[in-house]
Amino acid sequence: MQIQHTISGTREVIRHWLAEGESVALVPTMGNLHAGHMSLVEKARTLADRVVVSIFVNPLQFGPAEDFDAYPRTPDQDHALLEQAEVDLVFEPPVEEMYPDSMAIQTTVEVPGLSDELCGAYRARHFAGVVTVVTKLFNVIQPTVAVFGEKDYQQLLIIRRMTEDLNSPVQIASAPICREQDGLAMSSRNRYLDPEQRAQAPRLYATLLRVADMLREDEESLEEIESRGLEMLRADGFDPDYLAIRERHSLSEPGEADSDLVVLAAARLGRVRLIDNLTVDRI
Ligand code: PAJ
Repeated sequence: MQIQHTISGTREVIRHWLAEGESVALVPTMGNLHAGHMSLVEKARTLADRVVVSIFVNPLQFGPAEDFDAYPRTPDQDHALLEQAEVDLVFEPPVEEMYPDSMAIQTTVEVPGLSDELCGAYRARHFAGVVTVVTKLFNVIQPTVAVFGEKDYQQLLIIRRMTEDLNSPVQIASAPICREQDGLAMSSRNRYLDPEQRAQAPRLYATLLRVADMLREDEESLEEIESRGLEMLRADGFDPDYLAIRERHSLSEPGEADSDLVVLAAARLGRVRLIDNLTVDRI
């Protein structure tokens, strides 16, 4: 497994692969890898000849009051996991390699509309930061396919939209959410939970399951179900940003005829912000 810190070194490796006619799959990450990330790597393996994983804690997607400095960085542990998974190349640039000039004058890629609601309403400029770095990674690596987790459902749809709108040749693949045994979606930020919060945290997924049941029972309006879900989260000690029932492909508010739904929620336990989602078929 090669580890490259520069764009030029990375391009050089990939140029050889492309010249040999090999296809390349990219898994973008911010490191501190867990089984959720590794499931994307496994999927990537099935989709292309070569697998590249990027590890870059992207300052452009963190707000001024967010945890950029404190974000967990565990390079040695990450390299060991990726080596075991037979990844071909790790692209792990320092911030200056990706943003040599002030980030204030960095060209950005924005997906309007989809980026402004749900998490976007609480994290200004977050998705512009995500889409910009993903576009840059696509330009550096030139993958055939890139794999993203359904854990970050809104992010996945925004990236799909960007590739469609900009006629990007990169195919977007996705993989389901990996959960702990008690249902908590795996996340690098779970390590910030203290033992009491860690015991409460699975209630987020339990609430989504209950909301899905209510949707299938079809006895209450969507607004009533959403507010029941929010009440449940508050009763369990969460400070929810939102709990929303949306159409699964567009994230628009569902009409009576829409059956492909997704329930999405973001909620805080102390200073830790957790997100989760669950797709539901309304029959
Ligand atoms: P990060 O949070 O490191 O996540 C990297 C990828 O792993 C994302 O596609 C995310 O959806 C996926 N992932 C995280 N937890 C998962 C889980 N429990 N199950 C399945 N997949 C999971 O998302 C980012 O980084 C960044 O925004 C990035 C796309 C790398 C751009 O900086």
